[in-house]
Amino acid sequence: MDDQLNDVAPEAWSGVHRGPLREGEWVRLVDGKGRKHNFELVAGKRFFSNKGHLDHDELIGREEGFTVTSSAGGEYLVFRPLLSEFVVSMPRGAAVVYPKDSAQIVAMADIFPGAHVVEAGVGSGALTCSLLRAVGPHGRVSSYERREEFADVARRNVEQFFGTAGGSTHPAWRLTVGDLAEELPRAGERCDRIILDMLAPWDCLDAAADALLPGGIVCAYVATTTQLSRFVETVRAHGGFTEPHAWESLVRDWHLEGLAVRPDHKMMGHTAFLVTARRMAPGERAPLKKRRPAPGAYGRDYSGPRPANGVPPVDEEAEATET
Ligand SMILES: C[S@@+](CC[C@H](N)C(=O)[O-])C[C@H]1O[C@@H](n2cnc3c(N)ncnc32)[C@H](O)[C@@H]1O
Repeated sequence: MDDQLNDVAPEAWSGVHRGPLREGEWVRLVDGKGRKHNFELVAGKRFFSNKGHLDHDELIGREEGFTVTSSAGGEYLVFRPLLSEFVVSMPRGAAVVYPKDSAQIVAMADIFPGAHVVEAGVGSGALTCSLLRAVGPHGRVSSYERREEFADVARRNVEQFFGTAGGSTHPAWRLTVGDLAEELPRAGERCDRIILDMLAPWDCLDAAADALLPGGIVCAYVATTTQLSRFVETVRAHGGFTEPHAWESLVRDWHLEGLAVRPDHKMMGHTAFLVTARRMAPGERAPLKKRRPAPGAYGRDYSGPRPANGVPPVDEEAEATET
């Protein structure tokens, strides 16, 4: 495979296509009101909207970045979708990682060209596309998904995005159907980064810890604070990771018109939280946290995992006065 990859163009396997629009590619039509229509180009097929119809044949063979008019006078801007546009419009099995969060994952989990990244679950394959683009053809993304029907959706989406529909697949991609906690140890894979996007990432932490190389990063994407807390405490209880770092990102679009320059009235208020931690070398422990936990943090109401380094005894008095 390496010989075959030595002479690939830098943009190959990026999912970006140049030149005239071809049958089988996706296009994105945007009307004057900003409404978006995404579809695959099929010779002889018609696109219908409330503004009549358009023949796909009118689009095939033209360079993207043009305007077409439908049979009832609707004007549409035509481009190939960007990765960030494709993942929010492609068919979905499970909820996808939104582009603002994929960008954070690629940056903060330090995904690099040539990296070996393990991810679970694959869901609809949105994050997979960003990971594959970041590792490139010389890297490796090992994806695990326990539901066959979601794996099928992801396979189709990834092949559609990278333009390999019809049999071949991205050279860096391996998709395994099964539970990460069972399949990863069975595969015996060692990796640089592990991304967990699932309901119960704590169930996969031991497998992740065994597979991660020293200095590697585990990154979880969780929708609720209760999941965040349980994952973080499980990481601490494991003891073989650095202190977890958690954050969320809020992106606010702006309205730009003459003197009316202000944030948009609408925004996506919540997607999920991210948390990362680095794998220590075998047998090594991260230094004890210098700060004592907040009073009551691990008090009588707390029933989750406890940090491996030990938690100071509950300060009943402080807990009683905590507001
Ligand atoms: C929210 S979806 C993932 C979305 C995906 N990251 C994307 O961007 O399209 C969560 C997926 O995790 C899968 N899953 C949950 N636990 C799993 C496990 N232990 N091993 C493998 N897959 C798992 C579920 O079947 C589901 O498809």
